Amino acid sequence: MQFFVDTADTTEIKEFVEMGILDGVTTNPSLIAKSGRKFLEVVAEICALVKGPVSAEVTALDTPTMLKEAKVLSKIAKNVVIKLPLTTDGLKACRTLTDAGVKTNVTLCFSAAQALLAAKAGATYISPFVGRLDDIGQEGMGLIAEIKQMYKQYPAIETQILVASTRHPRHIVQAAMMGADVATIPPSVLRTLIKHPLTDRGLESFMADWKKTGQSIL
Ligand code: E4P
Repeated sequence: MQFFVDTADTTEIKEFVEMGILDGVTTNPSLIAKSGRKFLEVVAEICALVKGPVSAEVTALDTPTMLKEAKVLSKIAKNVVIKLPLTTDGLKACRTLTDAGVKTNVTLCFSAAQALLAAKAGATYISPFVGRLDDIGQEGMGLIAEIKQMYKQYPAIETQILVASTRHPRHIVQAAMMGADVATIPPSVLRTLIKHPLTDRGLESFMADWKKTGQSIL
């Protein structure tokens, strides 16, 4: 499973690149607002840091303007993926961009039926938001299982399942167990994945015992 980080914070992105665990980045208008930076500028910087796909979201609600925005965003770098909302206009834009060879990420997916439509429109990625479904008392990961099962029936579907709105390590482990293609993960959750109290405790006791030997490697 590929790991994308869900942020527009370039300092965080740099750290995950250095760890060698990052395959791509997703952003959205809220993350851009949180960064306090200019949209085009920050996307350009992210694309220079990460070789893999970087999702940049259109902000128009109608197809013609979405396509104009997509043109501007695509010019930033080769690895820009155009993120489009799962609406009638978003699906139309998706079909046009796919036919033109532009990669797309159809976002704000909350049902299997929507995921099927995104695949029909030729989306490169479909982003089901598992955390937001959990928030309203539905089983977010259940949606991933449904989409996986549905897409499996049709080998011609090339749309990749990008598990979005992940909130905790179990979302990531379950996504991998289900065979999702990608999980996009907030930096805080990515850091939580690294941590285990037994790792900390084990390291502490190894260091204490090493000190007792009076030795040093260097
Ligand atoms: C996906 O691409 C979105 O940017 C993101 O995962 C949304 O997550 P949230 O529900 O935590 O805002």
